[in-house]
Amino acid sequence: MSQTPHKTQPTAPSKVFIKTYGCQMNVYDSERMGEVLGERGYVTTQAVEDADLVILNTCHIREKAAEKVYSELGRLRKLKLRSGRDMKIAVAGCVAQAEGEEIVRRAPVVDLVFGPQTYHRLPDLLDRHDQTGTAVVETELPVDEKFEVLDAPSTRPVKRGVAAFLTVQEGCDKFCTFCVVPYTRGAEFSRPADRIINEARKLVDAGVREITLLGQNVNAWHGDGLAGRDWTLGHLLNALSQIDGLERLRYTTSHPRDMDDDLIAAHGSNPKLMPYLHLPVQSGSDAILKAMNRRHTAAEYIELVGRIRRARPDIALSSDFIVGFPGETDADFAATMDLVRQVTYAQAYSFKYSPRPGTPASTETGQVPEDVKTARLAELQLLLGSQQASFNEACKGRVLDILLEKPGREKAQLIGRSPYLQSVFIDGGDHAIGETVKVAIESVRPNSLTGHMVEA
Ligand code: SAH
Ligand code: SF4
Ligand code: F3S
Repeated sequence: MSQTPHKTQPTAPSKVFIKTYGCQMNVYDSERMGEVLGERGYVTTQAVEDADLVILNTCHIREKAAEKVYSELGRLRKLKLRSGRDMKIAVAGCVAQAEGEEIVRRAPVVDLVFGPQTYHRLPDLLDRHDQTGTAVVETELPVDEKFEVLDAPSTRPVKRGVAAFLTVQEGCDKFCTFCVVPYTRGAEFSRPADRIINEARKLVDAGVREITLLGQNVNAWHGDGLAGRDWTLGHLLNALSQIDGLERLRYTTSHPRDMDDDLIAAHGSNPKLMPYLHLPVQSGSDAILKAMNRRHTAAEYIELVGRIRRARPDIALSSDFIVGFPGETDADFAATMDLVRQVTYAQAYSFKYSPRPGTPASTETGQVPEDVKTARLAELQLLLGSQQASFNEACKGRVLDILLEKPGREKAQLIGRSPYLQSVFIDGGDHAIGETVKVAIESVRPNSLTGHMVEA
């Protein structure tokens, strides 16, 4: 294109690089940050060295997660010095919320600090930084304002893959004694049903076929239904499943206390709701569950699992576990192993207890020595690993519905997802990404399945 001399050259758009730590909600938030900045003319880049703005969207859940941020900031400081570029550095997310000003004190290279409930103000924060030339720290917790702003109609199309996250609930009022989330994300808040349905429609128009509803306590979601009646998550899932083109629904993370009858019934009656449920139990010992403030017993959890399995017999279960919570004895840990043997999981996450500043459990006496935590974690992971392997092995020879998500690395290979959230590598076939196809499962690897397409 020829340039007329009197016109000024258009400047290249600013580039933002966003690195995401922690849970799926941070993944969702990072996408929304990209959209907010897109309204401001920013484009996202995958190359940190090209970025004008780098955002670390951080996680505070365990000490290791939080410390990663400071090593990354050290690397960014060197990169900025070496390149001599005017690169702004921002810390967002749960570490930002928990540590605020402290981040700038420890890492003066940081220009912006903002918590999970203020990222809609990003353009203002950037302006404030430009005007003052000093670090800007914004860590209020006004949850409803964020969604008011983010829900405003936008002319820019949304970009997502085949599977997308959609936050429906945020924050937590449960105050488990080990957990920072109530402090970093604030009080429990549910987005209104009509806003959620609108956002889901937009996602489906953009090509999304599977939506995972997100919340720190997603099944505590409640709202005014479209007919003016009180809705819980089961109703919302049923309403969302009316959207043409949307094929699969999931939700995470659930609290056992909030699995109500409607939600359990939806697992039996809603064909779009996938047979996979992440239902963290943390421990199998009643004494530890009580000390954690989980407000249910091991027997109640096992009984709940029974009810869910009666509604949907093939449901695959997943969970989170903490070993070495203060006061955990060998007998308490044995109770956790027993619970795992009784329930049997298709997948699970397990962690050593990490004392977090400001949480009640961190100052308890009876902290468990590191070597005991290490040994317990290894024993638990061995059991969980063998259950996962058996679950995958049992899929061999079955024909599963696979939603095609992306091309594989090898020629004519496609990667998709099973109803049970397994990654599936598929040979051959000229089907398009976004289609659901029938796949005969032939072999099983530790973290994936392989198979070939069969005629419907
Ligand atoms: N809302 C979810 C959990 C969110 S945090 C729930 O109630 O289950 C994700 C997982 O991190 C938790 O389930 C727990 O297993 C783990 N976790 C949270 N705080 C932790 C800590 N202080 N130490 C070790 N693991 C922790
Ligand atoms: Fe944390 Fe408990 Fe809330 Fe889950 S329910 S986010 S573990 S306080
Ligand atoms: Fe981490 Fe915050 Fe999620 S602490 S797990 S990023 S809610």
